[in-house]
Amino acid sequence: MPQSPLETSAGHAVPTRRVLSARRVELTDTTAAGATLRRPKPATLPARPHFSSGPCAKPPGWSPSRIDTRSLGRSHRSALGKARLQETIERTKALLQLPADYRLGIVPASDTGAVEMALWALLGPKPVTMLAWESFGAGWVTDVSKQLKLKAEVRTADYGQIAELGGIDPASDVVFTWNGTTSGVRVPNADWIAEDRTGLTICDATSAAFAQRIDWPKIDVGTFSWQKALGGEGGHGMLVLSPRAVERLKQAQTNRPLPKIFRLTKGGALIEGVFKGETINTPSMLAVEDWLVALDWAERVGGLDALIARADANAGALDRWVAASDWIQHLTGDPAIRSNTSVCLQFADRADEEANKARQKAIVKLLEVEDAAYDIGAYRDAPPGIRIWCGATVDTGDIEKLGPWLDWAWEATA
Ligand SMILES: Cc1ncc(COP(=O)(O)O)c(C=O)c1O
Repeated sequence: MPQSPLETSAGHAVPTRRVLSARRVELTDTTAAGATLRRPKPATLPARPHFSSGPCAKPPGWSPSRIDTRSLGRSHRSALGKARLQETIERTKALLQLPADYRLGIVPASDTGAVEMALWALLGPKPVTMLAWESFGAGWVTDVSKQLKLKAEVRTADYGQIAELGGIDPASDVVFTWNGTTSGVRVPNADWIAEDRTGLTICDATSAAFAQRIDWPKIDVGTFSWQKALGGEGGHGMLVLSPRAVERLKQAQTNRPLPKIFRLTKGGALIEGVFKGETINTPSMLAVEDWLVALDWAERVGGLDALIARADANAGALDRWVAASDWIQHLTGDPAIRSNTSVCLQFADRADEEANKARQKAIVKLLEVEDAAYDIGAYRDAPPGIRIWCGATVDTGDIEKLGPWLDWAWEATA
């Protein structure tokens, strides 16, 4: 039987449910330090306290019983396995509204795998501009500068800000993250990307896809993983390639050794099978079938427009609570670059960072114990605070119910 996270696993002396619920009662009246709370514990819990920024909430109504298991325990190269993989690609491409001449493939190692594949297979022949404003973008900078040892122009910005997007040489390849999951900062649009560029744009879109409008003709390589905005499983990434990216792949002779799982060409030709469901190595058909369940839901609710509208409504509901609250603020002050998925908030009083880190930890723990919110701590390298995932699989009603719990937890941890 699966263990609940609050149940003791063999060899670990963790608190039992009984002890935790006793603490819950205590917190209705007093703080840990004994001060009386002004605010009663909210009466209603969010129906689904899943606000993690990855893996993200499953689609509403999801259940394991919805997963079609016919392809499990079968070869992924069987007619059925290949058909399910191809269907996955075609329906995802349609949902994302990718241009007809773009390719989409399923690749190993989640979004990281897809980004690494692109960086290692494509970069080198042209100058490179790296844009980073939070920790995942910074990771790609490290890869390009320290591992690939390419001399790149690196433009960075602090948490809450965005790097300078103007004046990028159109002959340069550009690597950037559409939505910075750890800072809640996204690009406002793709107007800064030249239409007549000769360089390629490589975009980590994992926390933007299915929630934000991506200007695909401006993107040559796009990546995302299933565990984000449609609540799929980790393990596989998806790689979007424009015709120009395919041309580069065919022509690029970087003489760089590439491991098999990064190779998209053979003898100077694209391995077309990857974009028709013939994966490079064995995929998890369970993750594939689970993604198809997520696609069923996304199509049923109205497709991309409806998904974006749901994320916007969630971020709007959270923003109304932030505006009415005096202890928390958006990490970015500029709504034009503020995420509608990974919404990052910081404490209004930032005089004592260590105290804020401890407060963050206490709030996150308390709300988890209460089953009011799971996994809402700010990313470890980001300024202390909370981060609430507002992507489409979250219900707006749950965001509205969360606000009072956050206020209550703030007081309860004073
Ligand atoms: C912007 C961004 N890039 C990359 C990753 C890594 O994704 P994965 O674990 O799917 O490889 C994440 C994960 O949260 C992310 O938010």
